[in-house]
Amino acid sequence: MNNPKWLNDAVIYNIYPQSFYDTNGDGIGDLKGICEKLDYIQEMGFTAIWLNPIYESPFKDAGYDVADFYKVAPRYGTNEDFRILCEEAKKRDIKVIMDLVAGHTSTECEWFKKSALPQKNEYSNRYIWTDSVWNTGDGRKFISGWSDRDGCYMTNFFYCQPALNYGYKQVTAPWQLPMDHPDCMAMRQELLNIMDYWCDLGANGFRVDMASSLVKEDPDGEGIREIWSDLKTRFRAKHPDGVLIAEWSFPKDAIAAGFDIDFMIHFGTKAYTTLFRYEKGTNQSEAWIGNSYFRAEGKGDIQEFLDIYLEHYNEVKGKGYIAIPTGNHDMQRVSMGRDMTDLKIAYTFLLTMPGVPFVYYGDEIGMQYIKGLPSKEGGFNRTGARTPMQWNQGKNKGFSTGDELYLPVDASADAPTVAEQEADPNSLLNYVKKLIEVRKATPDLCADGEFEVVSAGYPFVYRRGNVLVIVNPKDEAVKVPAANAKECLIGVNAGLCGETVTISGKGAAVIILG
Ligand code: NOJ
Repeated sequence: MNNPKWLNDAVIYNIYPQSFYDTNGDGIGDLKGICEKLDYIQEMGFTAIWLNPIYESPFKDAGYDVADFYKVAPRYGTNEDFRILCEEAKKRDIKVIMDLVAGHTSTECEWFKKSALPQKNEYSNRYIWTDSVWNTGDGRKFISGWSDRDGCYMTNFFYCQPALNYGYKQVTAPWQLPMDHPDCMAMRQELLNIMDYWCDLGANGFRVDMASSLVKEDPDGEGIREIWSDLKTRFRAKHPDGVLIAEWSFPKDAIAAGFDIDFMIHFGTKAYTTLFRYEKGTNQSEAWIGNSYFRAEGKGDIQEFLDIYLEHYNEVKGKGYIAIPTGNHDMQRVSMGRDMTDLKIAYTFLLTMPGVPFVYYGDEIGMQYIKGLPSKEGGFNRTGARTPMQWNQGKNKGFSTGDELYLPVDASADAPTVAEQEADPNSLLNYVKKLIEVRKATPDLCADGEFEVVSAGYPFVYRRGNVLVIVNPKDEAVKVPAANAKECLIGVNAGLCGETVTISGKGAAVIILG
Protein backbone atom coordinates (compact mmCIF):
# COMPACT_ATOMS: atom_id res chain seq x y z
CA MET A 1 0.00 0.00 0.00
CA ASN A 2 1.63 3.24 -1.03
CA ASN A 3 -1.19 5.59 -0.04
CA PRO A 4 -0.29 8.42 2.34
CA LYS A 5 -0.38 7.09 5.90
CA TRP A 6 -2.55 9.94 7.13
CA LEU A 7 -5.48 8.49 5.23
CA ASN A 8 -5.85 5.58 7.64
CA ASP A 9 -7.71 7.57 10.28
CA ALA A 10 -8.87 10.39 8.02
CA VAL A 11 -12.40 11.78 8.19
CA ILE A 12 -12.89 14.46 5.56
CA TYR A 13 -15.25 17.44 5.68
CA ASN A 14 -16.52 18.64 2.30
CA ILE A 15 -16.97 22.41 2.20
CA TYR A 16 -18.94 24.17 -0.51
CA PRO A 17 -17.12 27.49 -0.11
CA GLN A 18 -19.82 29.87 -1.29
CA SER A 19 -22.22 28.54 1.35
CA PHE A 20 -20.03 28.01 4.39
CA TYR A 21 -19.30 31.30 6.16
CA ASP A 22 -19.25 34.86 4.86
CA THR A 23 -16.91 37.29 6.65
CA ASN A 24 -17.34 40.40 4.49
CA GLY A 25 -21.11 40.64 4.30
CA ASP A 26 -21.37 40.21 0.53
CA GLY A 27 -23.70 37.25 0.95
CA ILE A 28 -21.18 34.68 -0.34
CA GLY A 29 -18.92 32.49 1.77
CA ASP A 30 -15.17 33.09 1.62
CA LEU A 31 -11.78 31.64 2.55
CA LYS A 32 -11.47 33.83 5.65
CA GLY A 33 -14.80 32.34 6.70
CA ILE A 34 -13.44 28.82 6.38
CA CYS A 35 -10.40 29.92 8.37
CA GLU A 36 -12.60 31.26 11.15
CA LYS A 37 -14.43 27.96 11.35
CA LEU A 38 -11.33 25.77 11.56
CA ASP A 39 -11.71 25.43 15.32
CA TYR A 40 -15.21 24.06 14.78
CA ILE A 41 -13.92 21.63 12.19
CA GLN A 42 -11.13 20.50 14.48
CA GLU A 43 -13.48 20.10 17.43
CA MET A 44 -15.72 17.88 15.36
CA GLY A 45 -12.68 15.68 14.78
CA PHE A 46 -12.32 16.13 11.02
CA THR A 47 -8.78 15.59 9.85
CA ALA A 48 -9.07 17.18 6.41
CA ILE A 49 -11.26 19.49 4.39
CA TRP A 50 -12.08 19.22 0.70
CA LEU A 51 -13.09 22.51 -0.88
CA ASN A 52 -15.22 22.60 -4.01
CA PRO A 53 -13.49 24.81 -6.63
CA ILE A 54 -12.23 28.19 -5.47
CA TYR A 55 -10.61 29.30 -8.75
CA GLU A 56 -11.53 32.42 -10.70
CA SER A 57 -14.65 31.62 -12.67
CA PRO A 58 -17.77 33.12 -14.26
CA PHE A 59 -19.68 30.60 -12.09
CA LYS A 60 -21.89 29.13 -14.75
CA ASP A 61 -21.30 25.78 -13.09
CA ALA A 62 -20.55 26.87 -9.52
CA GLY A 63 -16.82 27.23 -10.23
CA TYR A 64 -16.43 23.95 -12.12
CA ASP A 65 -15.99 26.31 -15.06
CA VAL A 66 -12.49 27.58 -14.28
CA ALA A 67 -11.27 30.80 -15.89
CA ASP A 68 -7.86 30.87 -14.21
CA PHE A 69 -6.34 27.83 -12.51
CA TYR A 70 -3.70 29.93 -10.81
CA LYS A 71 -5.97 32.45 -9.11
CA VAL A 72 -8.49 32.33 -6.29
CA ALA A 73 -11.86 33.84 -7.29
CA PRO A 74 -11.96 37.36 -5.81
CA ARG A 75 -15.30 36.60 -4.16
CA TYR A 76 -13.49 34.02 -2.01
CA GLY A 77 -10.39 36.13 -1.34
CA THR A 78 -6.83 35.96 -2.60
CA ASN A 79 -4.12 33.36 -3.13
CA GLU A 80 -2.57 34.70 0.05
CA ASP A 81 -5.81 33.96 1.93
CA PHE A 82 -5.52 30.39 0.67
CA ARG A 83 -1.94 30.16 1.90
CA ILE A 84 -3.02 31.44 5.31
CA LEU A 85 -5.91 28.97 5.41
CA CYS A 86 -3.48 26.10 4.78
CA GLU A 87 -1.09 27.41 7.41
CA GLU A 88 -3.87 27.71 9.99
CA ALA A 89 -5.25 24.30 9.07
CA LYS A 90 -1.82 22.75 9.48
CA LYS A 91 -1.53 24.17 13.00
CA ARG A 92 -4.68 22.19 13.79
CA ASP A 93 -3.53 19.03 11.98
CA ILE A 94 -6.12 19.49 9.26
CA LYS A 95 -5.16 18.77 5.64
CA VAL A 96 -6.53 20.88 2.81
CA ILE A 97 -7.73 19.23 -0.38
CA MET A 98 -8.60 21.26 -3.45
CA ASP A 99 -10.85 20.44 -6.35
CA LEU A 100 -8.95 19.91 -9.56
CA VAL A 101 -11.14 20.38 -12.59
CA ALA A 102 -8.85 18.44 -14.88
CA GLY A 103 -11.12 17.79 -17.84
CA HIS A 104 -12.24 21.25 -18.92
CA THR A 105 -12.14 24.99 -18.33
CA SER A 106 -14.59 27.83 -18.79
CA THR A 107 -14.97 29.41 -22.20
CA GLU A 108 -13.74 32.52 -20.31
CA CYS A 109 -10.32 30.98 -19.74
CA GLU A 110 -7.53 32.79 -21.62
CA TRP A 111 -6.35 29.45 -23.02
CA PHE A 112 -9.71 28.93 -24.63
CA LYS A 113 -9.96 32.47 -25.96
CA LYS A 114 -6.61 31.96 -27.70
CA SER A 115 -7.59 28.50 -28.84
CA ALA A 116 -10.73 29.94 -30.45
CA LEU A 117 -8.70 32.31 -32.65
CA PRO A 118 -8.48 31.44 -36.36
CA GLN A 119 -4.71 32.05 -36.35
CA LYS A 120 -2.61 29.08 -35.24
CA ASN A 121 -1.03 29.67 -31.83
CA GLU A 122 0.34 27.91 -28.76
CA TYR A 123 -3.18 27.14 -27.49
CA SER A 124 -4.79 25.99 -30.75
CA ASN A 125 -4.58 22.34 -29.67
CA ARG A 126 -5.24 22.87 -25.97
CA TYR A 127 -8.89 21.96 -26.59
CA ILE A 128 -10.44 19.45 -28.95
CA TRP A 129 -11.58 21.11 -32.18
CA THR A 130 -12.79 19.53 -35.39
CA ASP A 131 -11.28 20.69 -38.67
CA SER A 132 -14.34 22.52 -40.00
CA VAL A 133 -17.33 24.27 -38.51
CA TRP A 134 -19.50 21.87 -40.54
CA ASN A 135 -17.80 18.85 -39.01
CA THR A 136 -19.72 18.34 -35.77
CA GLY A 137 -17.43 15.68 -34.43
CA ASP A 138 -17.44 12.06 -33.40
CA GLY A 139 -20.75 11.64 -31.62
CA ARG A 140 -19.73 13.47 -28.46
CA LYS A 141 -21.07 16.95 -27.64
CA PHE A 142 -19.57 19.59 -29.95
CA ILE A 143 -20.43 23.30 -30.28
CA SER A 144 -20.30 24.98 -33.68
CA GLY A 145 -20.00 28.63 -34.67
CA TRP A 146 -18.53 29.86 -31.39
CA SER A 147 -15.78 31.97 -32.98
CA ASP A 148 -14.09 32.63 -36.30
CA ARG A 149 -12.02 29.49 -35.90
CA ASP A 150 -13.18 27.08 -38.55
CA GLY A 151 -14.08 24.17 -36.31
CA CYS A 152 -16.36 22.92 -33.52
CA TYR A 153 -15.13 22.46 -29.98
CA MET A 154 -15.94 19.51 -27.75
CA THR A 155 -17.63 20.22 -24.42
CA ASN A 156 -17.00 18.04 -21.40
CA PHE A 157 -20.16 18.96 -19.47
CA PHE A 158 -22.16 22.17 -20.05
CA TYR A 159 -21.65 24.07 -23.32
CA CYS A 160 -19.41 26.59 -21.50
CA GLN A 161 -16.95 23.87 -20.39
CA PRO A 162 -14.74 23.00 -23.37
CA ALA A 163 -12.82 19.74 -23.05
CA LEU A 164 -9.07 20.04 -22.51
CA ASN A 165 -7.01 18.02 -24.93
CA TYR A 166 -5.13 15.07 -23.44
CA GLY A 167 -5.46 13.23 -26.73
CA TYR A 168 -7.24 10.22 -28.16
CA LYS A 169 -6.17 6.67 -27.42
CA GLN A 170 -7.53 5.56 -30.79
CA VAL A 171 -7.24 8.20 -33.47
CA THR A 172 -9.77 7.84 -36.29
CA ALA A 173 -9.96 11.38 -37.74
CA PRO A 174 -7.23 13.83 -38.79
CA TRP A 175 -8.26 16.48 -36.21
CA GLN A 176 -7.92 14.01 -33.32
CA LEU A 177 -4.49 14.06 -31.67
CA PRO A 178 -2.76 11.01 -30.18
CA MET A 179 -2.02 11.09 -26.46
CA ASP A 180 1.71 11.53 -27.03
CA HIS A 181 1.29 14.56 -29.29
CA PRO A 182 3.52 17.35 -27.87
CA ASP A 183 0.51 19.64 -27.33
CA CYS A 184 -1.32 16.94 -25.34
CA MET A 185 1.83 16.27 -23.36
CA ALA A 186 2.06 20.03 -22.71
CA MET A 187 -1.47 19.95 -21.28
CA ARG A 188 -0.49 17.07 -19.02
CA GLN A 189 2.51 19.06 -17.81
CA GLU A 190 0.29 22.09 -17.20
CA LEU A 191 -1.92 20.00 -14.91
CA LEU A 192 1.15 19.05 -12.88
CA ASN A 193 2.22 22.69 -12.73
CA ILE A 194 -1.21 23.60 -11.34
CA MET A 195 -0.92 20.88 -8.70
CA ASP A 196 2.58 22.00 -7.75
CA TYR A 197 1.48 25.60 -7.55
CA TRP A 198 -1.23 24.96 -4.96
CA CYS A 199 0.79 22.39 -3.03
CA ASP A 200 3.55 24.96 -2.72
CA LEU A 201 0.98 27.26 -1.12
CA GLY A 202 0.04 24.48 1.33
CA ALA A 203 -2.54 22.18 -0.32
CA ASN A 204 -2.27 18.48 0.58
CA GLY A 205 -4.02 16.95 -2.39
CA PHE A 206 -6.81 17.06 -4.91
CA ARG A 207 -10.24 15.68 -5.60
CA VAL A 208 -10.17 15.30 -9.35
CA ASP A 209 -13.37 16.28 -11.11
CA MET A 210 -14.56 13.81 -13.79
CA ALA A 211 -11.25 12.01 -13.44
CA SER A 212 -12.13 9.34 -16.00
CA SER A 213 -12.96 11.86 -18.73
CA LEU A 214 -9.53 12.98 -19.91
CA VAL A 215 -8.75 10.52 -22.69
CA LYS A 216 -11.13 10.08 -25.62
CA GLU A 217 -11.74 6.84 -27.55
CA ASP A 218 -10.20 4.72 -24.84
CA PRO A 219 -12.45 1.64 -24.74
CA ASP A 220 -10.43 -0.51 -22.33
CA GLY A 221 -9.14 2.36 -20.21
CA GLU A 222 -5.50 1.88 -21.12
CA GLY A 223 -5.05 5.56 -21.95
CA ILE A 224 -6.60 6.92 -18.79
CA ARG A 225 -4.56 4.49 -16.65
CA GLU A 226 -1.39 5.61 -18.39
CA ILE A 227 -2.09 9.31 -17.81
CA TRP A 228 -2.97 9.01 -14.15
CA SER A 229 -0.18 6.65 -13.24
CA ASP A 230 2.28 9.01 -14.92
CA LEU A 231 0.77 12.07 -13.20
CA LYS A 232 0.65 10.30 -9.85
CA THR A 233 4.27 9.15 -10.03
CA ARG A 234 5.47 12.64 -10.80
CA PHE A 235 3.11 14.27 -8.28
CA ARG A 236 4.14 11.93 -5.47
CA ALA A 237 7.83 12.34 -6.20
CA LYS A 238 7.43 15.96 -5.18
CA HIS A 239 4.62 15.65 -2.63
CA PRO A 240 4.98 12.26 -0.94
CA ASP A 241 2.02 12.91 1.37
CA GLY A 242 -0.19 14.42 -1.32
CA VAL A 243 -3.44 12.59 -1.93
CA LEU A 244 -5.34 12.04 -5.17
CA ILE A 245 -9.07 11.42 -4.93
CA ALA A 246 -11.12 10.52 -7.97
CA GLU A 247 -14.59 11.53 -8.91
CA TRP A 248 -15.04 8.38 -10.94
CA SER A 249 -17.53 6.34 -8.90
CA PHE A 250 -16.06 3.06 -10.05
CA PRO A 251 -13.33 2.36 -7.49
CA LYS A 252 -11.86 -0.71 -9.24
CA ASP A 253 -10.95 1.41 -12.24
CA ALA A 254 -9.97 4.55 -10.37
CA ILE A 255 -7.62 2.75 -7.97
CA ALA A 256 -6.11 0.77 -10.87
CA ALA A 257 -5.38 4.12 -12.50
CA GLY A 258 -3.42 5.17 -9.41
CA PHE A 259 -5.89 7.12 -7.29
CA ASP A 260 -5.73 6.79 -3.51
CA ILE A 261 -9.49 7.10 -3.07
CA ASP A 262 -12.57 6.92 -5.22
CA PHE A 263 -16.13 7.79 -4.29
CA MET A 264 -19.16 5.60 -4.54
CA ILE A 265 -21.79 8.20 -5.34
CA HIS A 266 -25.06 8.56 -7.25
CA PHE A 267 -23.73 7.43 -10.62
CA GLY A 268 -21.29 4.74 -11.74
CA THR A 269 -21.74 1.73 -9.47
CA LYS A 270 -25.17 2.68 -8.04
CA ALA A 271 -24.01 1.49 -4.61
CA TYR A 272 -24.86 4.81 -2.97
CA THR A 273 -28.23 4.76 -4.63
CA THR A 274 -29.21 1.42 -3.11
CA LEU A 275 -28.39 2.77 0.35
CA PHE A 276 -29.95 6.19 0.28
CA ARG A 277 -31.63 7.21 -2.91
CA TYR A 278 -33.79 5.74 -5.52
CA GLU A 279 -36.37 3.04 -5.86
CA LYS A 280 -35.01 0.10 -7.78
CA GLY A 281 -34.98 0.72 -11.46
CA THR A 282 -36.17 4.32 -11.40
CA ASN A 283 -34.50 7.23 -13.09
CA GLN A 284 -31.70 8.79 -11.06
CA SER A 285 -32.97 12.31 -11.54
CA GLU A 286 -36.00 11.51 -9.43
CA ALA A 287 -35.63 12.48 -5.83
CA TRP A 288 -37.18 9.25 -4.68
CA ILE A 289 -35.87 7.32 -1.76
CA GLY A 290 -38.56 4.65 -1.43
CA ASN A 291 -36.80 1.32 -1.29
CA SER A 292 -33.37 2.46 -0.31
CA TYR A 293 -31.88 0.46 2.57
CA PHE A 294 -31.65 3.28 5.12
CA ARG A 295 -35.38 3.83 5.58
CA ALA A 296 -37.53 3.12 8.62
CA GLU A 297 -40.00 1.25 6.33
CA GLY A 298 -37.37 -1.44 5.92
CA LYS A 299 -38.05 -2.19 2.26
CA GLY A 300 -34.46 -2.07 1.08
CA ASP A 301 -31.99 -4.84 0.40
CA ILE A 302 -28.47 -4.46 1.76
CA GLN A 303 -27.37 -7.41 -0.38
CA GLU A 304 -27.85 -5.25 -3.45
CA PHE A 305 -25.29 -2.85 -2.00
CA LEU A 306 -22.96 -5.61 -0.83
CA ASP A 307 -22.86 -7.29 -4.24
CA ILE A 308 -21.46 -4.09 -5.71
CA TYR A 309 -19.41 -2.98 -2.75
CA LEU A 310 -17.60 -6.27 -2.15
CA GLU A 311 -16.70 -6.63 -5.80
CA HIS A 312 -14.90 -3.29 -5.64
CA TYR A 313 -13.63 -3.61 -2.07
CA ASN A 314 -11.98 -6.99 -2.68
CA GLU A 315 -10.25 -5.61 -5.73
CA VAL A 316 -8.96 -2.33 -4.22
CA LYS A 317 -8.09 -3.65 -0.75
CA GLY A 318 -4.46 -2.93 0.04
CA LYS A 319 -4.16 -0.56 -2.92
CA GLY A 320 -6.61 2.26 -2.27
CA TYR A 321 -9.81 3.27 -0.59
CA ILE A 322 -13.52 3.54 -1.24
CA ALA A 323 -15.29 6.64 0.08
CA ILE A 324 -19.03 6.59 0.62
CA PRO A 325 -19.84 10.19 1.49
CA THR A 326 -22.89 11.37 3.43
CA GLY A 327 -23.70 13.41 0.33
CA ASN A 328 -22.27 16.10 -1.90
CA HIS A 329 -23.15 19.23 -3.87
CA ASP A 330 -24.53 17.19 -6.79
CA MET A 331 -27.38 15.34 -5.13
CA GLN A 332 -30.29 15.80 -2.78
CA ARG A 333 -29.29 15.78 0.86
CA VAL A 334 -29.31 12.46 2.69
CA SER A 335 -31.73 13.96 5.27
CA MET A 336 -34.54 13.95 2.70
CA GLY A 337 -37.22 11.58 4.01
CA ARG A 338 -35.19 10.72 7.12
CA ASP A 339 -35.42 11.97 10.69
CA MET A 340 -32.51 12.57 13.06
CA THR A 341 -32.58 8.96 14.33
CA ASP A 342 -32.52 7.61 10.78
CA LEU A 343 -29.50 9.82 10.13
CA LYS A 344 -27.69 8.64 13.26
CA ILE A 345 -28.15 5.06 12.05
CA ALA A 346 -26.97 5.88 8.53
CA TYR A 347 -23.93 7.76 9.84
CA THR A 348 -23.07 4.88 12.19
CA PHE A 349 -22.70 2.80 9.05
CA LEU A 350 -20.84 5.44 7.03
CA LEU A 351 -18.38 6.18 9.81
CA THR A 352 -17.59 2.56 10.60
CA MET A 353 -16.97 1.28 7.09
CA PRO A 354 -13.48 0.69 5.66
CA GLY A 355 -12.02 3.41 3.45
CA VAL A 356 -12.29 7.12 4.01
CA PRO A 357 -15.53 8.76 5.18
CA PHE A 358 -16.58 12.17 3.87
CA VAL A 359 -19.19 14.40 5.53
CA TYR A 360 -20.81 17.09 3.38
CA TYR A 361 -21.09 20.40 5.25
CA GLY A 362 -24.37 20.66 7.13
CA ASP A 363 -25.05 16.91 7.04
CA GLU A 364 -23.67 16.77 10.59
CA ILE A 365 -26.72 18.76 11.74
CA GLY A 366 -29.19 17.21 9.28
CA MET A 367 -29.60 20.22 7.00
CA GLN A 368 -32.46 19.78 4.57
CA TYR A 369 -32.56 19.71 0.80
CA ILE A 370 -34.60 22.81 -0.11
CA LYS A 371 -37.09 21.87 -2.79
CA GLY A 372 -38.13 24.21 -5.57
CA LEU A 373 -35.28 26.73 -5.44
CA PRO A 374 -34.59 28.46 -8.75
CA SER A 375 -31.37 27.25 -10.30
CA LYS A 376 -28.30 29.19 -9.18
CA GLU A 377 -24.92 29.12 -10.91
CA GLY A 378 -25.71 26.03 -12.93
CA GLY A 379 -27.09 24.15 -9.95
CA PHE A 380 -30.52 23.19 -11.37
CA ASN A 381 -31.97 20.48 -9.08
CA ARG A 382 -28.67 20.43 -7.17
CA THR A 383 -29.27 23.97 -5.87
CA GLY A 384 -31.34 22.84 -2.88
CA ALA A 385 -28.36 20.88 -1.51
CA ARG A 386 -26.10 23.95 -1.66
CA THR A 387 -27.82 26.42 0.67
CA PRO A 388 -25.88 28.36 3.34
CA MET A 389 -24.64 26.64 6.47
CA GLN A 390 -26.86 27.15 9.50
CA TRP A 391 -24.63 28.26 12.36
CA ASN A 392 -27.11 29.78 14.83
CA GLN A 393 -30.51 31.47 15.11
CA GLY A 394 -29.09 34.95 14.33
CA LYS A 395 -29.46 36.88 11.08
CA ASN A 396 -29.18 34.57 8.08
CA LYS A 397 -28.68 31.72 10.54
CA GLY A 398 -25.26 33.17 11.32
CA PHE A 399 -23.98 32.59 7.79
CA SER A 400 -23.62 36.24 6.77
CA THR A 401 -24.32 39.75 8.04
CA GLY A 402 -25.28 40.78 4.50
CA ASP A 403 -28.78 41.84 3.46
CA GLU A 404 -28.70 39.89 0.25
CA LEU A 405 -27.51 36.32 0.04
CA TYR A 406 -26.52 34.59 -3.17
CA LEU A 407 -28.78 31.71 -2.09
CA PRO A 408 -31.41 31.83 0.67
CA VAL A 409 -30.88 30.06 3.98
CA ASP A 410 -33.39 27.44 5.06
CA ALA A 411 -36.18 29.60 6.50
CA SER A 412 -38.18 26.80 8.11
CA ALA A 413 -38.89 27.13 11.82
CA ASP A 414 -37.25 23.83 12.71
CA ALA A 415 -34.12 24.34 10.59
CA PRO A 416 -31.28 22.83 12.64
CA THR A 417 -28.28 24.93 13.66
CA VAL A 418 -24.81 24.20 14.94
CA ALA A 419 -25.22 26.33 18.09
CA GLU A 420 -28.37 24.55 19.22
CA GLN A 421 -27.01 21.12 18.48
CA GLU A 422 -23.73 21.82 20.24
CA ALA A 423 -25.72 22.54 23.38
CA ASP A 424 -27.82 19.36 23.13
CA PRO A 425 -26.00 16.17 24.20
CA ASN A 426 -28.44 14.05 22.16
CA SER A 427 -28.09 16.01 18.95
CA LEU A 428 -27.01 14.62 15.61
CA LEU A 429 -23.95 16.85 15.73
CA ASN A 430 -22.81 15.41 19.04
CA TYR A 431 -23.48 11.91 17.77
CA VAL A 432 -21.35 12.50 14.69
CA LYS A 433 -18.61 13.97 16.85
CA LYS A 434 -18.63 10.91 19.07
CA LEU A 435 -18.65 8.55 16.07
CA ILE A 436 -15.57 10.28 14.66
CA GLU A 437 -13.87 10.07 18.04
CA VAL A 438 -14.67 6.35 18.33
CA ARG A 439 -13.44 5.67 14.79
CA LYS A 440 -10.16 7.48 15.29
CA ALA A 441 -9.54 5.85 18.66
CA THR A 442 -10.22 2.31 17.37
CA PRO A 443 -7.66 1.11 14.81
CA ASP A 444 -9.96 -1.72 13.66
CA LEU A 445 -12.51 0.88 12.57
CA CYS A 446 -10.05 2.91 10.50
CA ALA A 447 -9.58 2.77 6.74
CA ASP A 448 -7.29 -0.28 6.68
CA GLY A 449 -9.19 -2.40 9.23
CA GLU A 450 -10.74 -5.69 8.12
CA PHE A 451 -14.37 -5.93 6.98
CA GLU A 452 -16.49 -9.04 7.21
CA VAL A 453 -20.23 -9.41 6.77
CA VAL A 454 -21.92 -11.32 9.61
CA SER A 455 -25.50 -11.06 8.41
CA ALA A 456 -27.13 -9.09 5.63
CA GLY A 457 -30.69 -7.89 6.09
CA TYR A 458 -32.46 -5.91 8.80
CA PRO A 459 -30.33 -5.69 10.88
CA PHE A 460 -27.12 -5.53 8.89
CA VAL A 461 -24.30 -6.88 11.05
CA TYR A 462 -20.61 -6.74 10.21
CA ARG A 463 -17.26 -7.05 11.86
CA ARG A 464 -14.35 -4.70 11.66
CA GLY A 465 -11.64 -6.81 13.27
CA ASN A 466 -12.54 -6.92 16.94
CA VAL A 467 -15.51 -4.62 16.59
CA LEU A 468 -19.06 -5.67 15.82
CA VAL A 469 -21.31 -3.13 14.09
CA ILE A 470 -25.08 -3.49 13.99
CA VAL A 471 -27.28 -1.17 11.97
CA ASN A 472 -31.03 -1.60 11.97
CA PRO A 473 -32.72 1.16 9.98
CA LYS A 474 -36.04 -0.69 10.09
CA ASP A 475 -38.42 0.35 12.85
CA GLU A 476 -38.64 -3.08 14.44
CA ALA A 477 -36.95 -4.38 17.59
CA VAL A 478 -34.15 -6.93 17.16
CA LYS A 479 -31.79 -8.95 19.34
CA VAL A 480 -28.34 -9.75 18.02
CA PRO A 481 -25.92 -12.27 19.57
CA ALA A 482 -22.53 -10.79 20.32
CA ALA A 483 -20.14 -13.40 21.70
CA ASN A 484 -17.44 -11.92 23.92
CA ALA A 485 -19.07 -8.50 23.86
CA LYS A 486 -17.21 -6.15 26.17
CA GLU A 487 -18.67 -2.71 25.73
CA CYS A 488 -21.01 -0.69 23.55
CA LEU A 489 -18.86 2.17 22.24
CA ILE A 490 -21.75 4.11 20.78
CA GLY A 491 -25.32 3.31 19.87
CA VAL A 492 -28.87 4.44 19.11
CA ASN A 493 -31.77 2.75 20.92
CA ALA A 494 -29.32 -0.01 21.82
CA GLY A 495 -28.44 -1.91 24.98
CA LEU A 496 -25.91 -4.63 25.75
CA CYS A 497 -26.90 -7.35 28.16
CA GLY A 498 -24.29 -10.08 28.56
CA GLU A 499 -23.67 -11.36 25.08
CA THR A 500 -26.82 -9.96 23.48
CA VAL A 501 -27.37 -6.60 21.90
CA THR A 502 -30.95 -5.39 22.04
CA ILE A 503 -32.13 -2.75 19.64
CA SER A 504 -35.53 -1.47 20.67
CA GLY A 505 -36.69 -0.29 17.22
CA LYS A 506 -34.68 1.42 14.53
CA GLY A 507 -31.19 1.74 15.95
CA ALA A 508 -27.51 0.92 15.79
CA ALA A 509 -24.67 -0.24 17.99
CA VAL A 510 -20.89 -0.44 17.83
CA ILE A 511 -19.65 -3.17 20.15
CA ILE A 512 -16.11 -3.92 21.12
CA LEU A 513 -15.45 -7.64 21.57
CA GLY A 514 -13.12 -9.18 24.10
C1 NOJ B 1 -18.77 17.02 -11.28
C2 NOJ B 1 -19.01 18.09 -10.27
O1 NOJ B 1 -19.14 17.54 -8.99
C3 NOJ B 1 -20.23 18.84 -10.73
O2 NOJ B 1 -20.70 19.74 -9.76
C4 NOJ B 1 -19.89 19.54 -12.01
O3 NOJ B 1 -21.05 20.18 -12.52
C5 NOJ B 1 -19.37 18.57 -13.07
N1 NOJ B 1 -18.44 17.60 -12.53
C6 NOJ B 1 -18.67 19.30 -14.19
O4 NOJ B 1 -17.43 19.79 -13.76
